[in-house]
Amino acid sequence: MKKILVLFGGNSYEHYVSCKSAKSIVENMDKKLFCYELVGIDFDNKWYRFDDDLSYLENGKWKDTHVVPIDNIIEFIQKFDVVFPMIHGYSGEDGKLQGMLELFDIPFVGCHTLASALGMDKEMSKILFEHLGVPQVPYLILEEEKQKEIETRIGFPVIVKPANGGSSIGIVKADNKKQLKKAIKEVKQYDSKIIVEKFVKARELECAVLEKNNRIICSCLGEIKSANEIYDYNAKYVNEKSYTTIPDDLPDKIIKQIKEYAKQIFTRFHCNGYARIDFFYEEESNQIYINEINTIPGFTSISMYPKLMEHEEISYTDLLTILINSAMSK
Ligand SMILES: Nc1ncnc2c1ncn2[C@@H]1O[C@H](COP(=O)(O)OP(=O)(O)O)[C@@H](O)[C@H]1O
Ligand SMILES: [Mg+2]
Repeated sequence: MKKILVLFGGNSYEHYVSCKSAKSIVENMDKKLFCYELVGIDFDNKWYRFDDDLSYLENGKWKDTHVVPIDNIIEFIQKFDVVFPMIHGYSGEDGKLQGMLELFDIPFVGCHTLASALGMDKEMSKILFEHLGVPQVPYLILEEEKQKEIETRIGFPVIVKPANGGSSIGIVKADNKKQLKKAIKEVKQYDSKIIVEKFVKARELECAVLEKNNRIICSCLGEIKSANEIYDYNAKYVNEKSYTTIPDDLPDKIIKQIKEYAKQIFTRFHCNGYARIDFFYEEESNQIYINEINTIPGFTSISMYPKLMEHEEISYTDLLTILINSAMSK
């Protein structure tokens, strides 16, 4: 039986989402093939073995249990056959953790250092999208550009976002100069590098990409139906009027094109295992724009990624087995 180490938590605003994803993973893992241990990383980047009721992952209070600190992390993780990092955002999804695992030759699920780092930084992703010829909305990096150029080069309304963010934290819409000033001040709390991009009124479509037996599978497209004008943190995690769906009214040409872009991006970012790639589709102009790539997508049992794979007739349990086997074959 293979020993799997599931890592969760991390020092980012997505800590609690990660706890929920980790809970779903261990609940759905095929116990005939794998045994697991859970390790949480707290906001001080300290690692702890967690072995209590999984409800402490659901409510995020895992540190209140009898967790055991890990002193020698490298020695500890080397006891496992595969590490399954389920940490979104800073330090878990941006290549740092992946770099450490690669350095010590420890097999792990998902993208390696390069793809993780490229996918986390929205500016670097955009540079690569442009190079690949995948259309995207006009944007500026604020630290390089003067604010007045936003009006002439992009035009209002705009979206202001941290370059290294996730879970819609720090995403603000601005309709005019006054709002922009306020938005920049707000977003600066999250990142010193800020992206300002054209706001598009578009449908949000997502494609789950999976590597299976060295083949790349692009799922059908899922759609976000946000309760708010943008799919902000409230719409994503609080407002219950938001939902996700698998639409049946999309033109075949659009589906085909998005899946082609998704495959191209997965390949050229040198992704491993899996990724969720998100697009905008502006119906009026029939235009597709790439929004972003997520190298550790949300993985709760109701998250988009497992849902899309289920639609491809890959159950959550089989999905985990494919990901773990793929990590061991690298
Ligand atoms: N250019 C844009 N036009 C319209 N809405 C946007 C734009 N960029 C982001 N959004 C909205 O904000 C949400 C979060 O932005 P995103 O770039 O995906 O950041 P995150 O990495 O936090 O998910 C998107 O799901 C979308 O609803
Ligand atoms: Mg997003």
